[in-house]
Amino acid sequence: MALRHFLTLRDLSTAELNRVIARAQELKKLQHENKLYQPFTGKVLGMIFEKSSTRTRVSFEAGMSQFGGSAIFLSPRDTQLGRGEPIEDSARVISSMLDIVMIRTFGHDIVERFASYSKVPVINALTDDHHPCQLLADVQTFVEHRGSIEGKTVAWIGDGNNMCNSYIEAAHMWGFKLKIAAPKGYEPKPEFLSEFAHCAELVESAEDAAVNADLIVTDVWASMGQEEEQKIREAAFADYQVNERLMSLAHPDCLFMHCLPAHRGEEISETMLDHLNAVVWDEAENRLHAQKALMEFLILENLKPN
Ligand code: CP
Ligand code: NVA
Repeated sequence: MALRHFLTLRDLSTAELNRVIARAQELKKLQHENKLYQPFTGKVLGMIFEKSSTRTRVSFEAGMSQFGGSAIFLSPRDTQLGRGEPIEDSARVISSMLDIVMIRTFGHDIVERFASYSKVPVINALTDDHHPCQLLADVQTFVEHRGSIEGKTVAWIGDGNNMCNSYIEAAHMWGFKLKIAAPKGYEPKPEFLSEFAHCAELVESAEDAAVNADLIVTDVWASMGQEEEQKIREAAFADYQVNERLMSLAHPDCLFMHCLPAHRGEEISETMLDHLNAVVWDEAENRLHAQKALMEFLILENLKPN
């Protein structure tokens, strides 16, 4: 049986994704009841971070500790990865010592190359092109607040970035409709979008996307690695702020999510995170539960006899 990884949402079937989300809710309950559940004593997670992180690092590291295992934080600043050791060599060595690896990096090809040389499951913890772990948490959060996301309408307002791409794949996997409002020149890649024409469409304005939405989502205007474009992007994205006025165009029970960190006064109004229908803190917490469920799935799946 081929080794299972999680590089994009499409690495799991819809049934498997739903299993992970249901399991995340069970693990959340155990955690909230202070019940110990330690199936992975002695197992070690490697965490390769080539970009900054708060939520991803804390959730993976805490999750593995709660499972009875441990995690090693690997930054290019103090490993040979930062001094040019090829990713393929690093993958062979690191995966010979650890049980599961997560990687946050720039090019998506880096996680693909690592995974193809790895002996253990690899999780994409954000690349320039995808952020599938965040979607597990987002869908879990939607399900907890509103039930199934199948058949719902989701509005993506802002950059056609890694989060937007993962929302496009999520629309396909979970069967919801995605309306994308992005400024000219910042849309998702047309060749990627055209694969998903059955579930994702570009609309003219933020308002068009928001009308009748069941969920409105946004993200920063300048992602990690694009810091020098901040000023140009502020001008380009000025009409794409999610605020109370935009929320009022959506269904009255429309939820608001943001993967965080958020920039108040830019992609969201100063008070948007305090909106009655904002569920961003649950969304952030669910990174822990969803990724624990994902690690459990991948470790157990890869232990199955061939
Ligand atoms: N949402 C998210 O991935 O946050 P971090 O960058 O803090 O990990
Ligand atoms: N699009 C953002 C997401 C951060 C979690 C970035 O890549 O920086």
